[in-house]
Amino acid sequence: MELKVNGKNQSLDVPAHTPLLQALRESLQLTGTKYGCGEGACGACMVLVDGTPTPSCITPVSNVRNREVITIEGISVNGKLHAVQKAFLAEEALQCGYCTPGMIISAVALLNKNPEPTESQIKEAMQRNVCRCCVYPYIVKAIQTASKMK
Ligand code: FES
Ligand code: FES
Repeated sequence: MELKVNGKNQSLDVPAHTPLLQALRESLQLTGTKYGCGEGACGACMVLVDGTPTPSCITPVSNVRNREVITIEGISVNGKLHAVQKAFLAEEALQCGYCTPGMIISAVALLNKNPEPTESQIKEAMQRNVCRCCVYPYIVKAIQTASKMK
């Protein structure tokens, strides 16, 4: 199976129905993408597929052939944190941090599409991401801060 992940072509010896999340974590050791619910309901496993936030736990690898997959490891460039990553740190928008990679992926996708979202647009765009520590207000603030950094 040929995949393009974080700008690199990868050849994986896995069945076509293998969840993308499993391929990323176990075959490519990209463990920043997290396993939460395993059924597309929490957003912990979110990655960008052609720029669209996509739950990798319910996406077979065969669905992403010839498409651009970006994981949390591919968000920073040349060791420099992305504005969203900097803003999450600046606003302390995490507690345990388990939801954070998926949150950042969804936030990056939002700001790429809409660089100055309103608070309600942020809340709507982040609906598929669950934070069990309930730091939602900080996450919204971080996304607002990131939108000013860009
Ligand atoms: S682990 Fe994929 S959406 Fe929850
Ligand atoms: S910071 Fe703990 S789940 Fe969000």
